[in-house]
Amino acid sequence: MCGIVGYVGADQALPLLVEGMERLEYRGYDSAGVAIIENGKIATARKAGRLDALIDEVERRDLPGTIGIGHTRWATHGGPTDENAHPHVDCSGTIALVHNGIIENHDVLRARLSREGHRFASATDTEVAAHLIESIIHERSCSLREAVLEAVDVLEGAFALVCISSDEPDRIVVARQEPPIIVGAADGIGLVASDIPALLKHTRDVIPLDNRQVAEVLRGAVTVFDFEGNEVEPPVVHVEWDMEAAEKGGYEDFMLKEIFEQPEVVRNTLRGRVDLGGRVRLDEVHWDDETLQGITKVVVVACGTSFHAGMAAKHSIEHYTRIPVELDLASEFRYRDPVLDETCLVIGIAQSGETADTLAAIRYAKEMGASVVAITNVVGSSITRDADAVLFTHAGPEIGVAATKTFLAQLVALNLFALYLGQQRLSMEPQKVAETLAAMEALPDQVEEVLLLEDEVRRAAKRYADARDFIFIGRGVGTAVALEGALKLKEISYIHAEGYPAGELKHGAIALLEPGVPVVAVMTGAKLYDKMLANVEEVRARGAEVILVAPRGDERARALADQLLEVPSTKPLLSPILDTIPLQLLAYFITKEKGLPPDKPRNLAKSVTVE
Ligand code: F6R
Repeated sequence: MCGIVGYVGADQALPLLVEGMERLEYRGYDSAGVAIIENGKIATARKAGRLDALIDEVERRDLPGTIGIGHTRWATHGGPTDENAHPHVDCSGTIALVHNGIIENHDVLRARLSREGHRFASATDTEVAAHLIESIIHERSCSLREAVLEAVDVLEGAFALVCISSDEPDRIVVARQEPPIIVGAADGIGLVASDIPALLKHTRDVIPLDNRQVAEVLRGAVTVFDFEGNEVEPPVVHVEWDMEAAEKGGYEDFMLKEIFEQPEVVRNTLRGRVDLGGRVRLDEVHWDDETLQGITKVVVVACGTSFHAGMAAKHSIEHYTRIPVELDLASEFRYRDPVLDETCLVIGIAQSGETADTLAAIRYAKEMGASVVAITNVVGSSITRDADAVLFTHAGPEIGVAATKTFLAQLVALNLFALYLGQQRLSMEPQKVAETLAAMEALPDQVEEVLLLEDEVRRAAKRYADARDFIFIGRGVGTAVALEGALKLKEISYIHAEGYPAGELKHGAIALLEPGVPVVAVMTGAKLYDKMLANVEEVRARGAEVILVAPRGDERARALADQLLEVPSTKPLLSPILDTIPLQLLAYFITKEKGLPPDKPRNLAKSVTVE
């Protein structure tokens, strides 16, 4: 998500940190900052906005010193402001740290540390780590490394932490629990970065820290420990990639990288939102139970891929809460004179948070007295200012124009929200909530399993890349997947593709079927399975090529498929989270077969800010 750099050596740290941060700009960020030690003191500079704003700031001030850390932030907790930009410092200004990830128990720790007299200067989860380390050093009179080793046992969630202390101005201490972080040493210098591009200028021999490891990085030397404090011998990896390949993490395109980031994205979007008692915890949603009980109708408004997430969410919300759900394309919504009042809850979905039609739709809904919750991936985006509550997806910046990982994150967030409504309105048995959450927690590993289909999908793409038309069919939540599969394919490969509810096929679109036309059928949840099989029979009877996305091990599906893409089973309402992935891969590989650029399809923009 965010970008981290660290340097300790003989040269001035500032230009090297800025250069490293520039190398990470491609990832997207909303603020940036550095901390440098000179003469036993830490100086920081932090700025919201582009790196240029930080560069202007550091050019105005003198920040000498040969050890420092830098960070480009993609906001998750607390908006993209100067105060929330990293590095964060402790009360005494002795420790500075930067962080990637999400500290789940930040609120509990903040309350505890505040009671102990610590003063907080930001709204971030990260700052608690600085104060926690300060309090440990104060209590134990220990080194920075010892304090970090103790802090990692207290911090819950995901973190790559990179810390410096003016009391130990010769070292950077790094800790990893999940988000990747790389360390390295070369002639008289020590280096840290979240991504390889930031290091390539200095070294090609790097040490990617393993999960639950701490490193001490000195001038020309790195020592690595496990979380128990035992020294370990880390493997050194030689990087062959050029800069462009390094930016894409070795993948050919950002889109493919983002598809492969999805296990982590699902994990991050769930993080901190499921408590140990098997209940949904949404700290961001602060309506009281009486207001939630009073909801008579939910209206979902969105565009494009986000609309498809809303289409799947309609099923979950109605099933879990028994509240009727209307689904509207945001561009149509306010022109149809919709019936809205204060008992309506409107859900606006926009990964960018800037889609003009979606913003206009939720503003209209607010004028009509409805409550609005926004689902977005961008902290500080316009939609967050207009909504009454915001549920963030934690997908990290998405660079490919076609939405992939943000779609999966939306599906996860919307299912959590639907469960939350069911839980708070008591329309769901606690046992059912807990069971569904357990199924959701299994999803990141299942997403990983689906990604193993890569080679099979690549072969299918070769086979069908020359098709002129594609039809995608599904039923129930599978219809949303079919529509999304068709959208992905048409927007990047420029092949004409239609997504259809399978039962609707015979009312018109079946006329398009002839021998050789590829039909992708999404075989979802149990109760519609037999009906889907019957629809696939209809398709086969017209000589079409059948590509099935089906539950693993189903012989009936195998018998009908020209190309079978098997996915693990989950609860039917969660199945879009798995079923979409082979279709994303199919669109991607067909586009590559055609020699087209998947990251930058013609005529499309990542953020659609005009009506
Ligand atoms: C498709 C795609 C678009 C967006 C649509 C809405 O891959 O990216 O269809 O989904 O423009 O964008 P957001 O979610 O930002 O409102």
